[in-house]
Amino acid sequence: MTKYKAPLVKAFLEPDSETFSYLVYDHPGGQAVVIDPVLDFDYAAGRTRTASAQQLLDFVGKQRLTVPWILETHAHADHLSAAPFMRQRLGGKVAIGKQITEVQAIFRDVFELEPGFLPDGGQFDHLFADGDRFTVGELQIRVMHTPGHTPADLTYVINEQAAFVGDTLFMPDLGTARCDFPGGSASRLYHSIQRLLALPEATDLYVCHDYPKPGREHRHRTSVAEQRQHNIHVHDGIDEAGFVRMRQARDATLGMPRLILPAIQINIRAGQLPPADEQGRVFLKIPINQL
Ligand SMILES: [Fe+2]
Repeated sequence: MTKYKAPLVKAFLEPDSETFSYLVYDHPGGQAVVIDPVLDFDYAAGRTRTASAQQLLDFVGKQRLTVPWILETHAHADHLSAAPFMRQRLGGKVAIGKQITEVQAIFRDVFELEPGFLPDGGQFDHLFADGDRFTVGELQIRVMHTPGHTPADLTYVINEQAAFVGDTLFMPDLGTARCDFPGGSASRLYHSIQRLLALPEATDLYVCHDYPKPGREHRHRTSVAEQRQHNIHVHDGIDEAGFVRMRQARDATLGMPRLILPAIQINIRAGQLPPADEQGRVFLKIPINQL
């Protein structure tokens, strides 16, 4: 048992990318963090919308919450971040892992970004490192660096009872996140997951995505105990070599996420759009034959 009370968790499913965003708070009228907010994007029209993010804002308003942090688990490849919109409405700081600089360096070259784009993480308000701790009202938040899916993935452990694991683990029947994006590593993911599975068995794990097969509802919460028993990729007894073999074979069959090109360009800028031209127009790039 920990000395902390259980955090309150409200999950929001964005159905197009099957992403879960979270509001985690200590009590109504208290303090909260936003984790992985989504900006809706109509790719065909090149149009952004804030309907999903607005649902979080409505909840914040109803619960009268103060939100000092907007937390990213990683630079997502399948949806755009609504962090700047959330910060504009709520205040607070936008944070991600400090290894985002590696991701920025890789994709600055892929996208041939403007000289003013520096891969120094300065686009974010704060960069977290493994082991960092911070307090939000009655929430004690501990940062774990859990790379593998990308070099910069973080897990946020709140009150030693709820871990927001980003794209490391999925629900037990789906297994684990892919590791084949530039900078990804199945071996590193295996070790990150072992650290997560070493948390107390009753720890709730909150995932960033769920892709249920027909007949099962979307789920966003699992536990260390459930994962150790039932996760098809990393249940107890699976060693690193076996995991890496499985992960690499599976990744070789996967196509790129539909929104990876727009998503990465925006998310490595902390969710900001690229600089506008003299007429205020904004453009994204599509590198040919590079990914
Ligand atoms: Fe991801």
